[in-house]
Amino acid sequence: MNRAAGQSEPVEPLREIAAKKGRIYGGAALQSVLSKDTEYARIFARQCGILVPEGELKWGSLRPSPTTYNFAPADWLLSYTKANRMLMRGHTLVWYQSLPKWFDGYVNQGNAKQMLQDHIATVVGHFSGNMHSWDVVNEILYPEDKIQGGWRNTPWLKLLGPGHIEMAFRLAAQADPHALLVWNENHIEDESYGHENKRRIWLMQLQALLAKKVPIGGIGIQSHLVGGQGQVGGPKFRQFLTDVSNLGLKILITELDVQDTGFVADPKQRDVQVADVYDRYLNAVLQNRSTIAVLTWGLSDQYSWLNTFVPRSDGLLARPLPFDASFQPTLAYYATRRAFQSANPI
Ligand code: G3I
Repeated sequence: MNRAAGQSEPVEPLREIAAKKGRIYGGAALQSVLSKDTEYARIFARQCGILVPEGELKWGSLRPSPTTYNFAPADWLLSYTKANRMLMRGHTLVWYQSLPKWFDGYVNQGNAKQMLQDHIATVVGHFSGNMHSWDVVNEILYPEDKIQGGWRNTPWLKLLGPGHIEMAFRLAAQADPHALLVWNENHIEDESYGHENKRRIWLMQLQALLAKKVPIGGIGIQSHLVGGQGQVGGPKFRQFLTDVSNLGLKILITELDVQDTGFVADPKQRDVQVADVYDRYLNAVLQNRSTIAVLTWGLSDQYSWLNTFVPRSDGLLARPLPFDASFQPTLAYYATRRAFQSANPI
């Protein structure tokens, strides 16, 4: 691999460009990667003003057994962020995926409320004062499940009903009154009927919870964009951002990347196509003054989840992120830089 070890870095850190506009740029990373690849850890800290652990704060990683917690990898990441003057955000307290193997056989209607209460109090309490924000709930809407209210048919919904959402936010606020509490969702970024319908439902549920003074501080828009599919950054999506902003909520782009499986093989041409999606999307989201942060799901293509979960059929490495596998900036880096530079300061 042709890595730029030892060379002076030619590109300006995105964290500094974002900060000039009062915004935050950062990314997701795994502790197992940052602790082994010191060159990557150095570039990541130089570019990112905020880090989100990619897996270490999910139930499956944090809870080896019903009565124990494994904070070691996330604590390592917290020390790394502090040493590099970065912020950290938490992902995620309530999710239907990445639950521990023991979950199904152990959690039932009799103990679910207590389990969730203990988890949130312990985990949010552990990091209290150190978290910029928490994804309190993740991917809880799925109108396709045809449940009243648009809720996804998750284990938590089956065990506790939709009331667990309000409960989770209130418990998180008690455990850390300073962290921004976020509701994170996927599949709402384009102009299709499905995305627009989900945005409409989300807005309605946000309004209902805010009317009950549930301490939601912001929304997280995951933004796993699929190149060549759907129009991103369009007028209906921008109207949604305005509506969210009018509710007094902050907007965070929490997991941005561009899946390039539908794009050409040639890396140079592919980068143009990927960067075009970044360009259109980021210019739309950064137009809104409530958009405080943009995080990509990773920083270098080398470590993107897409290479494992949605590999290209031609076997080539995916190019979804601002830095390629050799840690060189891609056109997506320059598109991100331009979008921050042309954003209004907040
Ligand atoms: O840590 C084990 C390792 O010990 C083992 O050898 C290896 C074998 O497969 O698995 C490793 O764990 C994997 C972990 O990623 C770390 O690489 C899990 O199997 C795998 O399920 C896990 O996937 C993560 C996935 O969420 C599920 O939690 C991805 O890294 C992560 O990128 C992905 O992130 C999600 C967000 O949380 C929510 N939004 C969508 C996004 C992409 O799917």
